[in-house]
Amino acid sequence: MLHFFPPNNEKVRAKIPAMAGTVDVLVANLEDGVPMADKEAARAGLVELAQTVDFGSTQLWTRVNSLDSPWCLDDMTAAVLEAGNAIDVIILPKVEGPEDIHWADRLLAQLEAKAGLERPILIHAILETARGVANVEEICLASPRMQGISLGPADLAANRRMKTTRVGGGHPDYLVRADPNPDDLEAPRQHFQQDLWHYTLARMVDACVTAGILPYYGPFGDIRDLVACGDQFRNAYLLGCVGAWTLHPDQIAVAKEVFSPSMAEVAHARRVIEAMGDGTGAIMLDGKMEDDASVKQCHVVVTLAEQLAASDPELAERYGIGG
Ligand code: GLV
Ligand code: MG
Repeated sequence: MLHFFPPNNEKVRAKIPAMAGTVDVLVANLEDGVPMADKEAARAGLVELAQTVDFGSTQLWTRVNSLDSPWCLDDMTAAVLEAGNAIDVIILPKVEGPEDIHWADRLLAQLEAKAGLERPILIHAILETARGVANVEEICLASPRMQGISLGPADLAANRRMKTTRVGGGHPDYLVRADPNPDDLEAPRQHFQQDLWHYTLARMVDACVTAGILPYYGPFGDIRDLVACGDQFRNAYLLGCVGAWTLHPDQIAVAKEVFSPSMAEVAHARRVIEAMGDGTGAIMLDGKMEDDASVKQCHVVVTLAEQLAASDPELAERYGIGG
């Protein structure tokens, strides 16, 4: 989970040392959500945290303001020159094309050299404009600094003139409906909500895999609705995403649960791998065909479990991995 927090808020800042080690990534957000009057305080809050907190196994990222704002340059400069030792990744919002990544890449190189940093700071782009979606493959391939991409459903909806006012998730009016009963046109008909984000997520996943970088779902705004939040996260997980943003502590457990395979999935995958021997040929297991391709699907699940277990003792125990 990428856990977003406003670094301009002193009370929130005070809680950050205790959060280090409990989430995968802490994102100091300088962009949308931070009022204009607090932009400098947010930047200063990021620098203070970067210079004073031991983040342990948690990575510190920051979301800077967009390239078309008056704050982006100062955000990037402060992030690298004053907080660069602690920051792993810079999130660039509203990325429109590879030229945005080229600009950030060159600027980061200059600033890193000036600061004497010995490892590169990576770039994570937010896909939240129609033009960005149209250019997503080129964006992913624009620089070896590219770490991954998140879907930004709120800005993307606005930019596309979609008519949802929700931050992520479904919409009750975006649906398919069963045919009418020809003898009773008024009779109620079954209908199901569809996923507004399927096309964009699937396209984003393909672009990320092509470039060897990681796809994430972004924010889910209805903090009270943890069920729908889990559904949105799960759709993204099933389509190939590796994580999502959390905007409130209650969403952290949801993200952890959804993006970690269940014990049943892992046990099944191990059984198929075991039964498939050298991984070639075809077998029947519980009435289902397994072959060279399905064993690869199973390796995806087991490899993910192993990667998660390596940094999370609770998951290591769940999956029966390690000491
Ligand atoms: C995130 O930044 C969004 O616009 O959804
Ligand atoms: Mg946005």
